Amino acid sequence: MHHDNGGLADTQQEHWQRTYGAHPGMYGQEPSAPAVHAAEIFHVCGAKDVLELGAGHGRDALHFAREGFTVQATDFSATGLEQLKNAAQSLGLAEHVTTAVHDVREPLPLPDASTDAVYAHMLLCMALSTQEIHALVRDVRRVLRPGGVFIYTVRHTGDAHYGTGIPHGDDIYEHGGFAVHFFPRHLVDSLADGWTLNEVHAFEEGELPRRLWRVAQTRL
Ligand SMILES: C[S@@+](CC[C@H](N)C(=O)[O-])C[C@H]1O[C@@H](n2cnc3c(N)ncnc32)[C@H](O)[C@@H]1O
Repeated sequence: MHHDNGGLADTQQEHWQRTYGAHPGMYGQEPSAPAVHAAEIFHVCGAKDVLELGAGHGRDALHFAREGFTVQATDFSATGLEQLKNAAQSLGLAEHVTTAVHDVREPLPLPDASTDAVYAHMLLCMALSTQEIHALVRDVRRVLRPGGVFIYTVRHTGDAHYGTGIPHGDDIYEHGGFAVHFFPRHLVDSLADGWTLNEVHAFEEGELPRRLWRVAQTRL
């Protein structure tokens, strides 16, 4: 399949594989703040299953499993997902989590209207073109049941790294080997076309700090 940014994303896959190999569990074992919030929203909506995209080594997937959801965790790093599987096993959560190596530039490996909730923390802002991001969000809509919720986070153009480092076009800049697509606000709005946009919440994570938006939108 043709990918807009094929070379860069392929290099990124190798980079993520190496990074998780060199720094197992690099994001820590505690869930991220957006995952804690998302679990609350998913409970309120009556969701039972959650698809997580770009789950990495699974700090958030494990939280969803602990919260009683059935979790399908995907990432294009087999190394990250292996760490997630091992952690799930040692925490006695293995039967609540399945993993699949999957590149979000390809169609999601799920039937139409088959999941209650989709979650993606810092995945849409990876080395994906605007066109690929739109295609992915259309596919998220396809796999969600009507009334299902999509919660995602992205670094945005207010981030200190925006406009610095190696430019790759389409608001993608690379720092220390990691390429990030910094979201302008109009991209968030256009991705919510045909959805109900519930919230765009600004927050920070890490020491830089990374400046992010947490977006919640409901499939009509
Ligand atoms: C910034 S990390 C966040 C990991 C995890 N969500 C967390 O917060 O702990 C981004 C993740 O997206 C994955 N990723 C990047 N591009 C991807 C793609 N095209 N398809 C699938 N996963 C991808 C990386 O392997 C990495 O695990």
